[in-house]
Amino acid sequence: MSILVTGGAGYIGSVMVEMLAGRGESVVVLDNLSRGHRAAVEQAIPFYRGDVGDRPLVERIVHAHQVEACIHFAAWIEVGESVLAPASFYQTNAAQSAALLASLVASGVRRFVFSSTCAVYGEPRTVPIPEDHPQWPRNPYGWSKFFTERMLGDCDAAYGLKSVSLRYFNAAGATAGCGEDHHPETHLIPNVLLAALGRRPQVAVFGGDYPTPDGTAIRDYVHVVDLCSAHLLALDYLRAGGASDFLNLGNGTGYSVLEVIETARRVTGRAIPARIEARRAGDAVRLVASAERVRRVLGWQPAWPGLDSMIRTAWDWRQAHPDGYPKGS
Ligand SMILES: NC(=O)c1ccc[n+]([C@@H]2O[C@H](COP(=O)([O-])OP(=O)(O)OC[C@H]3O[C@@H](n4cnc5c(N)ncnc54)[C@H](O)[C@@H]3O)[C@@H](O)[C@H]2O)c1
Repeated sequence: MSILVTGGAGYIGSVMVEMLAGRGESVVVLDNLSRGHRAAVEQAIPFYRGDVGDRPLVERIVHAHQVEACIHFAAWIEVGESVLAPASFYQTNAAQSAALLASLVASGVRRFVFSSTCAVYGEPRTVPIPEDHPQWPRNPYGWSKFFTERMLGDCDAAYGLKSVSLRYFNAAGATAGCGEDHHPETHLIPNVLLAALGRRPQVAVFGGDYPTPDGTAIRDYVHVVDLCSAHLLALDYLRAGGASDFLNLGNGTGYSVLEVIETARRVTGRAIPARIEARRAGDAVRLVASAERVRRVLGWQPAWPGLDSMIRTAWDWRQAHPDGYPKGS
């Protein structure tokens, strides 16, 4: 029996594949390489290049590899792009997820772990944000994840598909083999490290006048290894007959943009120039998870909760891969 990892050539998916293989699971990857890197997945792992919405392909993979569960990372992730190109975004993230679910259900798969996001909440009314906080996303990216969460509830009721949706806050950090290499890169930590490496002249800090102690926005970060450990626990939970659930995946600690930059200066020993710019439309002031339920339901215990270890491991990976993954991979 195998685990199907969609988006396994992406940042988080590649770490997931490494960890699943590391614990002796049989893994198969489906990724269309629209955003990921073939070199992020070991050659020995079965790899299919294609769309998650390609029903004949997914059904063929399920039968060929006796897939028992799917971990669904494949998606487009840029909020700004989702605002500019909502139709193709919904097609990729929502319509293709619906097709994937149809293929899995038709071929007998009943376990599913989904990469959701704190963007499903929209502007928080209370922080830390609990899972039962009202959901009203502020952009098509958040809505596309919200719609997929709704589909999962309906698929449980209709087909008995059991799922865990993990609402990530911000993933950060790397393993020795896998790191973050998005094009364009919009995430803060990789951009700070590119500036540390001299690959960017400076880091843009969007907004210095927020109602926070240092005036910059606050986010909750989770080490990518801890994030993937939660998926392993979710898989075990579903195998043990656990009910479908929606869980925040954050540490419950907020760091401001300036704190991230200061930590990166200390960890890398490099001067990292930063410039305060105008606020970005749609950015929330503070996004911090209420992180109790995931600990209680899955027994999750982060091993790397501090920002230092996230930045240290991301820096180690970036120094070993100054140009990211090989071009065209
Ligand atoms: N990175 C974060 O901080 C973060 C935060 C919240 C949620 N998430 C979610 O986690 C998941 C993974 O994020 P990531 O940072 O690893 O992104 P990523 O862009 O690095 O990886 C996504 C992968 O999916 C593939 N893909 C996209 N559409 C596809 C399709 N239709 N069929 C097959 N493959 C497809 C891409 O080629 C890429 O390899 C996404 O679903 C994202 O929404 C990420």
